Amino acid sequence: MTSPADRRSDLTGRADIDRTVRTFYERALADPVLAPAFEILAVVGLEQHLPVVGDFWEQILFRTARYQGEFTLVHRALNRQHGLAGEKLARWLHLWCETVDEHFAGPDAERAKTKARAMAEALERSWDGVENHRARN
Ligand code: HEM
Repeated sequence: MTSPADRRSDLTGRADIDRTVRTFYERALADPVLAPAFEILAVVGLEQHLPVVGDFWEQILFRTARYQGEFTLVHRALNRQHGLAGEKLARWLHLWCETVDEHFAGPDAERAKTKARAMAEALERSWDGVENHRARN
């Protein structure tokens, strides 16, 4: 919600995305619940990873970048290794929404949160599918 004293502006482009993503990762990497699931970044390198995540959000929010990663495959592997469903995914969403809210307010800031929720739900559904498939066979 915005009020007359609210100095936050809307999230408008790549610089705002990069700022949000960087703050989010600082928090996620220091978070006791999430940090173990991000251990691969010690190998991949945070500075290599952040622009990929920036492309992802720029593509989703403004369609001005071409994210060509493997979003579902990457998280399927992480889920197998760390069990992301439930507490970790809820914590991820909480930190993301909190970070967006701290910096920005407006329609695109709202979309950054609703899209994140939708992507998190899609991931959980894709993991259910794998588990159900395994259970049947
Ligand atoms: C518990 C929740 C989550 C955890 C622990 C997590 C962790 C990670 C980690 C460790 C990577 C790097 C994997 C690698 O390079 O091998 C990654 C990649 C990524 N994550 Fe997540 N993630 C979570 C949820 C999400 C959600 C909900 C979104 C989007 C709304 C998201 C967006 C991305 C993107 C765009 C990448 C880059 C994938 C690529 O390399 O193409 N993550 N995540």
